[in-house]
Amino acid sequence: MSSQLVYEETQVSPDVILLPGKLPARVIWPVAGGKGGTGKSTLTANLGVGLSLLGYKVILVDGDLGGADLHLFFDQIAPPRSLCTFLNHEVDSLQDVLLPTASENLRLICGGNEMIGTANLPFAAKERLLRHILALDADYVLIDLGAGTSFNTLDLFTLADDGIIVCTPEPHARVDAYGFLKNSVYRRLRRHFVRREDVRLCIERFAHDAGRRSGRIRELLEQITQVNADCGEVAAALMATYRPKLVLNRVRHKRHVEEADRFLALVREYLSVEMDYIGYVRSDLKIVEACERRRPLLVDDPKAPAARDLCNLIVNGLGISDRLGRLAPGDYRRIAELAKAESRFW
Ligand SMILES: Nc1ncnc2c1ncn2[C@@H]1O[C@H](COP(=O)(O)OP(=O)(O)O)[C@@H](O)[C@H]1O
Ligand SMILES: [Mg+2]
Repeated sequence: MSSQLVYEETQVSPDVILLPGKLPARVIWPVAGGKGGTGKSTLTANLGVGLSLLGYKVILVDGDLGGADLHLFFDQIAPPRSLCTFLNHEVDSLQDVLLPTASENLRLICGGNEMIGTANLPFAAKERLLRHILALDADYVLIDLGAGTSFNTLDLFTLADDGIIVCTPEPHARVDAYGFLKNSVYRRLRRHFVRREDVRLCIERFAHDAGRRSGRIRELLEQITQVNADCGEVAAALMATYRPKLVLNRVRHKRHVEEADRFLALVREYLSVEMDYIGYVRSDLKIVEACERRRPLLVDDPKAPAARDLCNLIVNGLGISDRLGRLAPGDYRRIAELAKAESRFW
């Protein structure tokens, strides 16, 4: 499959609003953050539960190759099948390694820690994985990604135009999130122009030199235009359709949310990327306690303050309504009732 095809197959409108009873085309949301411990796995697990409570078929993929732990939220200690089973060609399809969870609508593809070197997949294995993720049968596919900016992580993130970045209020997390976004821009452009050697070299040279200069992506787009005007237009269009979402996690003060605005302005100015801030989750010990009980917070303690934030994020931040029409639009608080009913199965 060509890299061109990857993008064509995964274009999802960033402002799709779902109406009750109206199914979206399948949506893929990779969840990344640059830094470890920002809450990527916690958010993936809870978003997955929330979407499944709203009646959608959801698949969670643990894409943290080398540091997989998403299965722990689902009380799976030694998963019988994982991404490794697929990567080792023990099965033909990624669909074959799906594991059930306590929620009928929610299935899981565990990561593969047992395979040494998985964090750096060879090209063919990675392309096969991307192809199979794109073919998964679900309304929503959420991919939990690892920390860092390995090519695997960047390629999984840029499967979607509007992946989710999880950042905490610490400056370190913002620096890593910025670095991740910057590398994702280079990767997205480079992947698209992989067969145009002149443009590819221009991107690589710019990325290499960017550490010494301001490295505004606007300048890179100008340089690509000088190499080839049509490619410049395509590159600008690729940037215009790139709309990652930002979630702030472990928020403790109102000013933490205000700081997000400055981050978005910086990303706009230097990376020419328009991000959508979709909401925050406060710092809440209940999240840690749920984690210790190996359950996502949404079913462990649906009325906890952070559970309310998560529901608000799903309904108002992501604009998702109840597929079965049980909740009024925007009524995120009543998801707690659905979660309470569901929790007895967990
Ligand atoms: N909003 C929050 N409030 C309190 N603790 C949190 C919150 N989000 C995540 N945590 C805790 O932070 C730790 C790291 O979270 P995790 O989701 O594993 O991060 P990542 O996947 O980004 O490495 C876990 O112990 C988790 O329980
Ligand atoms: Mg994680």
